[in-house]
Amino acid sequence: MRLAVYGGSFNPPHPAHVRACRLACEALGPDKLLVIPAATPPHKPLPEGSPDAMERLALTRTAFRAFPEAEVSDMELRREGRSYSSDTVRELRAAYPDAEIVLIMGTDMLLSFETWHEWRGILSEASLAVLPRNDGDIGAIEREAVRLREACGAKIYVLDETPMPMSSSDMRELLASRRGAGELDGEVYARIIRKRDYGAKPQLDWLRERAYSFLKPTRVPHVAGCEHEAVKLAERWGADPGDAAEAAILHDITKKLSMPEQLQLAEKYGIVFDALERGNIKLTHAITGAALSRDLFGVTDAVYGAIRWHTTGRPDMTLLEKIIYLADYVEPTRDFPGVERLRSLCYEDLDAAMALGLEMSLEELEAAGTVPHGDSLEALRWYGKDN
Ligand SMILES: [Fe+2]
Ligand SMILES: [Fe+2]
Repeated sequence: MRLAVYGGSFNPPHPAHVRACRLACEALGPDKLLVIPAATPPHKPLPEGSPDAMERLALTRTAFRAFPEAEVSDMELRREGRSYSSDTVRELRAAYPDAEIVLIMGTDMLLSFETWHEWRGILSEASLAVLPRNDGDIGAIEREAVRLREACGAKIYVLDETPMPMSSSDMRELLASRRGAGELDGEVYARIIRKRDYGAKPQLDWLRERAYSFLKPTRVPHVAGCEHEAVKLAERWGADPGDAAEAAILHDITKKLSMPEQLQLAEKYGIVFDALERGNIKLTHAITGAALSRDLFGVTDAVYGAIRWHTTGRPDMTLLEKIIYLADYVEPTRDFPGVERLRSLCYEDLDAAMALGLEMSLEELEAAGTVPHGDSLEALRWYGKDN
């Protein structure tokens, strides 16, 4: 029996990991393949923002779901202390006394093999199968394989495959800079965004695609306009344009829902509407939209607040909250008497624009005979001239 073993931090797991397993399986034809995420990698500590071992295990299972021959094992998570391969090999040897155990690894693992804990012990029990990580690696792999074979009779398979240059550290970098949606497996990416591991922020085109699917098609131009205006305002006033875009993309995500659906979401997220809100989707959608955005896309508190307060405003708003409130009001598809004046004021004096925007919206409510929400009245008192 041949047992192939692929270990690592999988922080996060990416398509090159899956491909490495496929290639190794094609070359070696193992009877069983175990993928084993490390609980505590022995070589270097995991970078800040990394999820815990249970979450890396879950991500690895997600990444390998399309490769059912691979069994993702929690055996290293069940052990205390550092995850030494030597302990894993010993455990596997006890479970599979007659198997040829083959450890699949990349170039850098082979080249640092002699720094591994009890590396000679590993080589006495297991073979190695090495895949190049980068073009030009194959020579270095061959040389090291010859050396280890001569030094201690190591059994090493050199798999001469075209490398897929992709590393977990590259992936972490992409995730933190609103990229990576196209590089990582879709479900892995969505899970990372939802939990905001690795300091991840959603790639905006990925987020648009998902958020727009919640909208009536007729609302899309407004949301796109709001994003455009919010980014411009963020640039004008020194807010993070990515956060402004994210909040704008999501701000009306529950606007399409009926009041019973709004109430269902409120129940799900533990939201209690006041009497005025209960009868008015204009008020509820800001609250349920913020909660749904947090649940689906893990929005930060800053973005959550911007969605939450985009309809009523409130006293002492954050910069991002003011930007989304006003971008929603004056985005390019908006056309009402006074919009030009309000739009230009947004770029001159943000608080004065808040005061004018609140005044205009309260006048509109009064004209329609609608009772204004207390949050708007308090906001006007805060931003109004008498403050
Ligand atoms: Fe809205
Ligand atoms: Fe809106």
